[in-house]
Amino acid sequence: MCDLQTQSAIIMQSPGKAKVEHNLAIPSPDAFELLIRVHAVALNPSDWMALDALARPGAGAGYDFAGEIVEIGEKVTSPWAVGDRVAGFVHGSHAANYTIGAFREYLTADSELVIRLPDHVSFEAASTLGMGISTASQALYQSLNLPLPVTNPIPTNQSILIYGGATATGSIAIQLAKLSGLHVITTCSEQNFPWMSSLGADESIDYKQPDAIKQVVDLVQKNGLFVILNCIGTESTAEFCLQCFTPPQDTTHQPEYVYAPLMPLSGPLPKIGSLPSTAVIHNRWKFVYTCFGKRFTTLIDHPAINGTWQPSVEDKRFMIRFYRQFETLLADRKIQLMPQEVKLGGLQTVIDGVSLVRAGKVHGKKLVYPIL
Ligand SMILES: NC(=O)c1ccc[n+]([C@@H]2O[C@H](COP(=O)([O-])OP(=O)(O)OC[C@H]3O[C@@H](n4cnc5c(N)ncnc54)[C@H](OP(=O)(O)O)[C@@H]3O)[C@@H](O)[C@H]2O)c1
Repeated sequence: MCDLQTQSAIIMQSPGKAKVEHNLAIPSPDAFELLIRVHAVALNPSDWMALDALARPGAGAGYDFAGEIVEIGEKVTSPWAVGDRVAGFVHGSHAANYTIGAFREYLTADSELVIRLPDHVSFEAASTLGMGISTASQALYQSLNLPLPVTNPIPTNQSILIYGGATATGSIAIQLAKLSGLHVITTCSEQNFPWMSSLGADESIDYKQPDAIKQVVDLVQKNGLFVILNCIGTESTAEFCLQCFTPPQDTTHQPEYVYAPLMPLSGPLPKIGSLPSTAVIHNRWKFVYTCFGKRFTTLIDHPAINGTWQPSVEDKRFMIRFYRQFETLLADRKIQLMPQEVKLGGLQTVIDGVSLVRAGKVHGKKLVYPIL
């Protein structure tokens, strides 16, 4: 049992406004949950987007966390012990359950949906993981159907384009795709090329160059390009990606083309590109919160996102399996974590950090906050 009674947390007040509230109850974990003492949290663009668009007075803010287990629900069967170090993400800014949110001192989480941390990974570094690996894995393994990552992959000649490799999600996706044996082509600003190489990307292309699409197509002439992950997801980046799909030289077998954006378009995919008219492009976007296997409602003003989402047993099962695989990769030092800028000052400074991310002042790193 956790013997403390109250905690502090960042609570939404109104659109764009959140504040630290004190003397809030520390929840008890339900039968299948863990109670976690939060040691560090990290910021995502989703933090300010949710604050501006979703804020319901009283809702808890924040997604990514790392911490230590302090209490275990009575029906938890996974081999957790009090004191185990874990990381993950929770469905913050929840429209119905206000006790969820990572920006607090103690949180409850599904016992199967947290990642065990090896000793060499600090809480600060681990706090960058949850939403990034969950979003990247859904896109790579559920939408694009790639083989699951392994410690010693056998390289294949299949290419993937990861558009926006310098995003937090893209930086994880590059490493996972390499561990799935793919040849990885990514786009990013030129100053990020060395970072992309260090993650394992085989080719980096500056998306601002006028011939960037041609550069991608030239690289995949022989074996073709059938799978694309777009970590930005805007209309113009979708157009870029669609023009990169390339049939293989050996066209006896017509491949399936799959496009997985992290953000959906408001309408159908534009009809551009140079594929044969018989080619079919599957457009597969997934919403990361479906991995919790619970019903939820979202109020973002976007036709593909707004509305009520039914529980997905399949998505939860996938994520539980993936997290176990990921724990092995992390323990085997196969994953390089996003660079971090650690900021002191606790929950109050987290609110300032959300404004920095909103202002577009954070590139190629995560803002991370120890919660002492
Ligand atoms: N599907 C879901 O459920 C889900 C979950 C989480 C996040 N998302 C979405 O996924 C996207 C990525 O999130 P994130 O946290 O990984 O991003 P992030 O780390 O904040 O990405 C920032 C980077 O994006 C790159 N970038 C910005 N505009 C670009 C453009 N037009 N073309 C290419 N690169 C561009 C910049 O890299 P350079 O410095 O190289 O230019 C920038 O450093 C966001 O739109 C987010 O809302 C979706």
